[in-house]
Amino acid sequence: MLSLCQHGYESLLERELTGAGLAVTEKGVGWALCGSDLGRDESLVSTLPQGQLAQLAFPSLVLPAPREFKGESVNALAAQLADFFLESLRGERIDAAWPCVFQTVPEVVGLGRRASGVEKAFDELLRKKLSRIAKLAGPELPRGAGKARGLFVFFADFGRMFAAREAWLGGQRRMADDDAAPSRSYLKVEEAYIVLGREPAADETVVDLGAAPGGWSYSAAKRGARVIAVDNGPLKGGALNHPLIEHRLEDAFKFAPPPGVTYDWLFCDLVEEPHHVMQNIVGPWLAHRWCRRFVINLKFGHVDSLALLKEIATPDSPFAKHATNLRIRHLYHDREEFTVVGETNP
Ligand SMILES: C[S@@+](CC[C@H](N)C(=O)[O-])C[C@H]1O[C@@H](n2cnc3c(N)ncnc32)[C@H](O)[C@@H]1O
Repeated sequence: MLSLCQHGYESLLERELTGAGLAVTEKGVGWALCGSDLGRDESLVSTLPQGQLAQLAFPSLVLPAPREFKGESVNALAAQLADFFLESLRGERIDAAWPCVFQTVPEVVGLGRRASGVEKAFDELLRKKLSRIAKLAGPELPRGAGKARGLFVFFADFGRMFAAREAWLGGQRRMADDDAAPSRSYLKVEEAYIVLGREPAADETVVDLGAAPGGWSYSAAKRGARVIAVDNGPLKGGALNHPLIEHRLEDAFKFAPPPGVTYDWLFCDLVEEPHHVMQNIVGPWLAHRWCRRFVINLKFGHVDSLALLKEIATPDSPFAKHATNLRIRHLYHDREEFTVVGETNP
């Protein structure tokens, strides 16, 4: 099984996989390979998403049964890939658009060019043999978390790639910036919507705790949601004086809805000790169902991140007790932090 993560977090990925009972046999820049006992069975991706895989925070993409290919040239790699793909198609009918995704680690200089070369050569080979199927291929990862079928190729090095027909997606992806967004944090909440599979809509209500300078508030308001932005700091850019954003100079830990009010969304992005946030914000907000859905960012810079993951998932945690569709992710745009999304139990 091959797992991809954000570069710089390979050791945490390894610890998470080991904690899930998987033996890491090799790791490189942005990836880790696990032992063969799980790795040979493609059907695992059908059984694991609801359980083990869906609970992993660090992997953005998992190939449960990757095939490894080595080759000195672009053409040699493309030819092997085409053979693998054509052989794997036997008996399968493809009538709709399918993902044909080539991934690399951006930090390895020149690898992206190598991957593009192989992608182009593979596409030419496929067009010659199966032009109808080649035309249906798209280069984008499917949006959202869960299982996907297509062709997923990862370049570990210039002459080494892994490929698989099935993948499990964590939902993480690079988001497009918006010039009016007042902070880089804006990208995190935009990415979190994709992991949750839902975003604020016109006329929904959002409480944004720790809102300044206003990236998350701006993201919700630009979709037409009404936002209460709670922060003693100033709002800026597109969030400043936005007609749908009400800025409250208050302490996030003391903010509570008026009796009987349930907001559609809770956003929380406080630079605070994560246990303090879990106990004093997540606990009451979820237990009292003051919100229907939430995006909560927990900073793990000063705590053991793997211990924190366990605490979030433990049956006693407010998340486990009061939420459904819970997903904890180390997002593409996260640094030393997790983003937790979910819905409160009705
Ligand atoms: C990482 S920033 C939030 C960035 C924001 N999500 C955005 O998109 O621009 C953290 C914010 O939490 C605020 N904060 C920290 N403790 C707070 C508290 N007790 N009450 C209200 N705001 C708090 C800080 O003032 C800071 O503006």
